[in-house]
Amino acid sequence: MANEKPWSGRFTEPTDAVVENFTASVKFDRRLYRHDIMGSIAHARMLAHVGVLTEKDRDVIIKGLQDIESEIDAGNFAWSTELEDVHMNIEARLIVRIGEIGKKLHTGRSRNDQVATDLRLYLRDGVDAVIRATVTLQNVILDLAEREANTPAPGYTHLQIAQPVTFGHHLLAWFEMLARDADRLSDCRRRLNIMPLGAAALAGTSFPIDRSYAAKLLGFDAPAENSLDAVSDRDFAIEFVSNSALLMTHLSRMSEELVLWSSTPFDFVELSDAYCTGSSIMPQKKNPDVPELVRGKTGRVYGHLVALLTLMKGQPLAYNKDNQEDKEPVFDTLDTVLGSLQVFAGMIPSMTVKRENLARAAASGFSTATDLADYLVRQGVAFRDAHEIAGKAVRLAIDTERDLTQIDIKEYRKLTPAIGEDVFDVLSVEGSLKARAHLGGTAPVQVQAAIIRARQRIKKFGQ
Ligand code: ARG
Repeated sequence: MANEKPWSGRFTEPTDAVVENFTASVKFDRRLYRHDIMGSIAHARMLAHVGVLTEKDRDVIIKGLQDIESEIDAGNFAWSTELEDVHMNIEARLIVRIGEIGKKLHTGRSRNDQVATDLRLYLRDGVDAVIRATVTLQNVILDLAEREANTPAPGYTHLQIAQPVTFGHHLLAWFEMLARDADRLSDCRRRLNIMPLGAAALAGTSFPIDRSYAAKLLGFDAPAENSLDAVSDRDFAIEFVSNSALLMTHLSRMSEELVLWSSTPFDFVELSDAYCTGSSIMPQKKNPDVPELVRGKTGRVYGHLVALLTLMKGQPLAYNKDNQEDKEPVFDTLDTVLGSLQVFAGMIPSMTVKRENLARAAASGFSTATDLADYLVRQGVAFRDAHEIAGKAVRLAIDTERDLTQIDIKEYRKLTPAIGEDVFDVLSVEGSLKARAHLGGTAPVQVQAAIIRARQRIKKFGQ
């Protein structure tokens, strides 16, 4: 019978209907079908390579599996909850399609090494997609940074205006966060690309399998060294979700800045209408829904990370059914991260940068007070004294409602004779920016040089 459970031999009673529903994973693990079939084809090839399957049987099995893949692609596959999961659904269908030969596919294999292999194959593609989407966003950020390399903007600490920066420099900070995320993901990919297949249920198999041969067929770097570990640990999935959580942290911080910047008091950028929605009651509202949602979705990825860590922590070796719960968090993390990266890559180039407002804010808040102190140090004043004198200048400016450029030289010289006419060069925003011309600094020339280096650096991801 097509829907009879492949493991029903030792059972005398049918599975309770509620239990059947409770234990089945096919409603979500069907997403693995392509990778499951890929793994099965490699397994069949390997079995024929070592003489466990005839070449004729191998070819019939492969053809059957390919036909099933086409059926699923076309939406013509009847998934069955009684058959529990993606693996047994496909195997049962194979037996229906090709008959007795189909029953030989599972020789020397277990669903335990099968599912661990499937998930690694699936996540390998997933990680590659996330890296690609990250690099796409990085490119978009670099293009904007290049356009805004000379644009003065306020730099903050404690969300108080601290020192002027160039807007391009700020954007390059976003670039760096994402660069580390992409690096972490490619590091995760290295550990992920190890093949569990051949571990069978837990102890390996009595057949003369050639694991290196199968690994090569599937593009794995090597077979896993230990069969118990291979079927049991999901640390590769945890790493992926952990790397994703950190990536979402970065997107969430960027989102928070976009929400602030597009608010009326800041008014530094305007997000395009295509990335905002209105209010059903307040006609004037244009809300930054997209960055808000990315910020909000960060929470669900954190949740998935905690779910996976908790899932793993109590498990004795080797496989336990707990591990079936690894899939939904992994899938949802992948969807959330890819969706967030994609929407960001469209939103950033379509927003309007309000340069005058940025420049005005950059000049406010006595943002060049540090430059005044640095100037005094160059005139021979010790830094602590220079700090004190610059502080007094700020006090005077606050009391007389002026900024530092509006205090005249006589007043400055009353604070200290060390100040000369040339102080006004360093008090301007342009002067302040230009002075920070070391590696990693905010001066326009440094930003331009950093962009060139950044473009070189992301070439390693082949985009
Ligand atoms: N659906 C199962 C999972 O996702 C496949 C492995 C089942 N193995 C078992 N011994 N019940 O983990």
